[in-house]
Amino acid sequence: MRLQDEVAIITGGGSGMGRAGAVRFAKEGAAVVIVDLNLEAAQETAELVEAEGGKAVAVSADISTLEGNQAAVSAAVEAFGKLSIFWANAGIADVVGPLADASEERFKLMNAVNVFGPWNGARAAMPELAKAKGSFLITASLSGLKARPGSAAYSATKAAAVHLVRMLAVEFAPDVRVNGIDPVATETPMQAVFNPGAREAEAKPKIVAGIPLGRLATPDDIANAALFLSSREASMITGHNLVVDGGALC
Ligand SMILES: NC(=O)c1ccc[n+]([C@@H]2O[C@H](COP(=O)([O-])OP(=O)(O)OC[C@H]3O[C@@H](n4cnc5c(N)ncnc54)[C@H](O)[C@@H]3O)[C@@H](O)[C@H]2O)c1
Repeated sequence: MRLQDEVAIITGGGSGMGRAGAVRFAKEGAAVVIVDLNLEAAQETAELVEAEGGKAVAVSADISTLEGNQAAVSAAVEAFGKLSIFWANAGIADVVGPLADASEERFKLMNAVNVFGPWNGARAAMPELAKAKGSFLITASLSGLKARPGSAAYSATKAAAVHLVRMLAVEFAPDVRVNGIDPVATETPMQAVFNPGAREAEAKPKIVAGIPLGRLATPDDIANAALFLSSREASMITGHNLVVDGGALC
């Protein structure tokens, strides 16, 4: 098993990529701490993990704060004795649309979750991760690398996350590896945030047209990438942003 004896925190583990990752990591031997604002959703993920024979704890916390991340780290150490993997995956998005319609309040909130979230996650988790010679992973986005109209605020937060990966990687080497994942549009509930209501179905063929492999990513595609980067197989990889985009950036 590829994560035997590892203890992993996954933020945003109540939905989408984080839920897929929790199940995948547990199948590979990790004990998982599933962190989400939505406790019920985190508990559902924990049940999915346990149904597969894995070990899981659900924690309700707001990961935009230092306190929320510290609570998650304490829960991991209390339940499983250590922390060796932290996947800062929770994020929020915004409706794709013109700058004139954008909300400053929403930009501030996205900044709090998408940038302060992983930054506070690192502040809370690095001491434990250093003891375990562990891995810190951030879900950024292809939007942080590739420009397209209508998504300036969300994309700016993700560009910050892309560079945060590199900054943390050099600061915490050689003790903790730090990497990022940059997914293309992925089949999760977040699609309905970018394009609400009937727009979701209308937007999909246009998004797919820009992806050479001809489909959106699945949560399992992202979980597989997260598994590799978090495992000891990636022990010479740090400061890397792994694009999982079906060729969209080519
Ligand atoms: N879905 C996509 O197309 C896509 C593409 C690229 C990157 N991403 C990024 O991938 C990550 C995972 O997204 P997803 O698509 O699985 O989204 P999702 O909406 O399915 O899940 C996100 C989870 O994060 C939780 N969350 C939100 N704010 C939180 C907070 N302050 N504290 C704790 N939990 C919080 C939510 O409750 C939810 O369960 C995000 O960072 C997102 O920006 C998504």
